[in-house]
Amino acid sequence: MSDEPTWDRATADWYATNYGEYATNRLGVAAIEFGQGDVVVDIGCGTGSALRAAAEWVTSGRLIGVDPVPRMLEIAKQRALSHPAAARIEFLPGPAHALPLPADTADVVLAFDSFDHWGERNKLAGLHEVRRVLRPGGRFVVVKDGAVANAASRDGFVQLATSAGFELVHERQLSDGDVACRLWQLRCKG
Ligand SMILES: C[S@@+](CC[C@H](N)C(=O)[O-])C[C@H]1O[C@@H](n2cnc3c(N)ncnc32)[C@H](O)[C@@H]1O
Repeated sequence: MSDEPTWDRATADWYATNYGEYATNRLGVAAIEFGQGDVVVDIGCGTGSALRAAAEWVTSGRLIGVDPVPRMLEIAKQRALSHPAAARIEFLPGPAHALPLPADTADVVLAFDSFDHWGERNKLAGLHEVRRVLRPGGRFVVVKDGAVANAASRDGFVQLATSAGFELVHERQLSDGDVACRLWQLRCKG
């Protein structure tokens, strides 16, 4: 029996109400050096909070959210409507292990509090998908909420990412008040 959470309409509404603008999105995005024209892909984008925050630095590029839950995408589209960068923000349906994007699309791929929801059997396939859609020199940035991260899940993540052909560029702990999270920045091995 799986103990993985089920993401459906009810979970999406609950998440959006309680954590839809959670501070890890702002903290994680502020720790990344974006280029103005970057194409940013956010896997498991939830309400699109990280992409709306990234628009402050990505002033001419595209911001693409991917999430397999239709209700989550409805909420994300709604929240992006009144954003100044609305014309550059788009949302696509799909899971991490079958990204609805061509190869060599993204300069930066985000997975904020999303990797642990990809499904144990699909995590490796998801990491290969991230490699496929990253442009040469692109970066993969993973954030996990400090409250749920533990040594086993941290080490397990880095080992799996390494086996999928990534190398760790750096790992940082971020915090603001009561909120803490861990950030990994990776790139494809030469
Ligand atoms: C904890 S929420 C995080 C949302 C957002 N990134 C944030 O930090 O606020 C996890 C997200 O992962 C999405 N998700 C669930 N299964 C997924 C999968 N197989 N691939 C990609 N994302 C998935 C959920 O729909 C949800 O939006």
